[in-house]
Amino acid sequence: MIGEAAIPGMAPPVDWDLYLAGRTSQMESSVIRELLKLTAQPDVISFAGGLPAPEFFPIREFEEACRYILRHEGRVALQYSPTEGYMPLKEYLAEAMAKYGIEEKPENILLTNGSQQALDLLGKIFLDPGDYVLTSRPTYVGAIQAWRAYEANFLTVPLDDDGMVVDEVDKAVAAQPVKFVYVLPNFHNPAGTTLPLERRQRLVEIARRHNLIIIEDDPYGELRYEGEDIIPIWALAPERTIYLSTFSKTLAPGIRLGWIVAPQPIMRRFVQAKQGTDLHTGTFVQMIANDICQRGILRQHVKRLRKVYGERRDVMLASMERYWPEEARWTHPQGGLFLWARVPSSIDTADFLKKAVAEKVAYVPGFAFYPSGDDGHNAMRLNFSNATPEKIEEGIRRLGAALKKELAGSLSL
Ligand SMILES: Cc1ncc(COP(=O)(O)O)c(C=O)c1O
Repeated sequence: MIGEAAIPGMAPPVDWDLYLAGRTSQMESSVIRELLKLTAQPDVISFAGGLPAPEFFPIREFEEACRYILRHEGRVALQYSPTEGYMPLKEYLAEAMAKYGIEEKPENILLTNGSQQALDLLGKIFLDPGDYVLTSRPTYVGAIQAWRAYEANFLTVPLDDDGMVVDEVDKAVAAQPVKFVYVLPNFHNPAGTTLPLERRQRLVEIARRHNLIIIEDDPYGELRYEGEDIIPIWALAPERTIYLSTFSKTLAPGIRLGWIVAPQPIMRRFVQAKQGTDLHTGTFVQMIANDICQRGILRQHVKRLRKVYGERRDVMLASMERYWPEEARWTHPQGGLFLWARVPSSIDTADFLKKAVAEKVAYVPGFAFYPSGDDGHNAMRLNFSNATPEKIEEGIRRLGAALKKELAGSLSL
């Protein structure tokens, strides 16, 4: 007999919380992803996301690559493939990275679903509940989110205009052992800072003394607008560095393609961890990326992006000089997509965001980038790659005017 419970709408509701794993209490939605929803009105000039400029996506080249791959290698492209990744693309990456000093065999490269998956796999293979990881404060919000899910604790050291204050790592790890040190040496997200060679060398020296693993996350290294490339940490300490990069900022984030370079013994673990997650990164997408790389399109595209984003950065910096209150301070990024601004502490950038959105301009409040969530209240991250130069100037003008008004208000209290 069919009881009442079988009638839709009459069955008792399921209390899903009763079934959740304990670790889900550590999981939160990314503040940035939530904010993007808030700021996704078409008339808001958003400096919030880390989005590339969509008008420069090489759409026609993608279309041609898709057609070519399907026509000539469709049976391979649409089939399952090895977890380790598509060998011709790994060979391309090995050759391309060698120019920057990362000389590694293609076998020690693993293709991932974006660098975000690499961060998750790091958590999966290294972190037991309660383990510590060391990061700068602020640091990349996606790393905080990924490792919180594995119930990690965060030990942090400060960051200045030259990136992570690596001398502080020495003291910090002497007092509290960590599983690894997470570093963003080139054009830090969110701070826009670059770690000078001396700090990279000093970090390696500290890491060797304390037997630390270093995670070098480098999505932006190729997007340099001034100055000279600096040797990657990997090249200074290949025995203990795991290097991550991605096509997201140089080609397109929608293809979700990144990679890990890791010493052979640990590469095996990454492969096992990835098998359980998704078997492998999409064969089709890897073959398309490979086609685009092998034809020299990526190289050309990056050259173009350096010019376009460099100009946008200059417009943002000049507009801030022109329109912002003189009490504000900001970093001068040599590359990447972001700069980091600080305003007087009478302004809480999380509260102030509502006023900014009312003026049709948005940013990410600084607190989002602190594992403790209890810092950065007068800071904000501004992205300069996504909006056009005209919009950047207008958005910075609006934000500057709103900040000046707020400061004038707090002074008259
Ligand atoms: C420092 C850093 N690491 C990793 C990622 C994730 O990139 P992907 O799109 O490759 O997953 C980002 C994206 O913004 C990032 O800034």
